[in-house]
Amino acid sequence: MSDPILELRKLNKSFGPVHVLHDVDFSVYPGEVTALVGDNGAGKSTLVKCIAGINSIDSGEILWEGKPVTLADPRAAAALGIEFVYQDLALADNLDITQNMFLGREISRFGFMNDGKMEAKAREALASLSVRTVSSVRQLVSSLSGGQRQTVAIAKAVLWNSRVVFLDEPTAALGVAQTRQVLDLVRRLADQGLGVVLISHNMNDVMEVADRVAALYLGRIAAEVFTKESSTTQIVELITAGRSGDVGLAPATVNESI
Ligand SMILES: Nc1ncnc2c1ncn2[C@@H]1O[C@H](COP(=O)(O)OP(=O)(O)OP(=O)(O)O)[C@@H](O)[C@H]1O
Ligand SMILES: [Mg+2]
Repeated sequence: MSDPILELRKLNKSFGPVHVLHDVDFSVYPGEVTALVGDNGAGKSTLVKCIAGINSIDSGEILWEGKPVTLADPRAAAALGIEFVYQDLALADNLDITQNMFLGREISRFGFMNDGKMEAKAREALASLSVRTVSSVRQLVSSLSGGQRQTVAIAKAVLWNSRVVFLDEPTAALGVAQTRQVLDLVRRLADQGLGVVLISHNMNDVMEVADRVAALYLGRIAAEVFTKESSTTQIVELITAGRSGDVGLAPATVNESI
């Protein structure tokens, strides 16, 4: 088994008097999909925003390839190759696929790149992810379906030699066929060597595509389990009760959290 590429150790985060994350340990491994699960308000998005440099952290360590790093702003994460696809996707409707993929980065990393080059690179990025549902990279994003938009957002995130990608509820708004496409894409990203973090409330998706599952319960990691060695029932119990049989938070901790 490989070493984690990204690791959080004993991370704490409060908003004023509200202690949201308690001593959170969380690891991301190259070539694996790690699902981050937990009930509404458990702290998933807060954790992701700590890595993204949107939330500051109160205490704890963030390690990249085993070395402590400070992720004080979104650029710091991007510089390491950590990308985020948020639920609202942040795509610009009035631009086409190519323009969206290069939005904000046209000049910073490539110098002045011409349209033809960007178009070719956008096409290549989609092809490398075996995306075939998009007919033209010149199509306006406003004309895409939910699944196609999600696909473009993911392709955009991985266009920049990313090493780790966080996907917050990528299938929440999608139908059956589109969910299928996005899950296939999630798996392919990991198969290409990326560390993928999938935030999801859908246990079918989690069981199907994730290698391991970290369950947050009221801001504490209740357990990290391998999907192969676990069951939907166990994961649901970890989410809803913080423990399942012998696995999870000690009963005293569970009560204290409530
Ligand atoms: N900026 C903030 N200020 C104050 N409290 C916050 C802030 N952001 C999050 N919280 C609180 O932190 C807790 C965790 O919220 P978070 O959004 O991380 O949950 P989540 O696990 O992502 O939930 P969901 O599944 O609903 O998206 C909640 O109680 C929320 O109210
Ligand atoms: Mg959230």
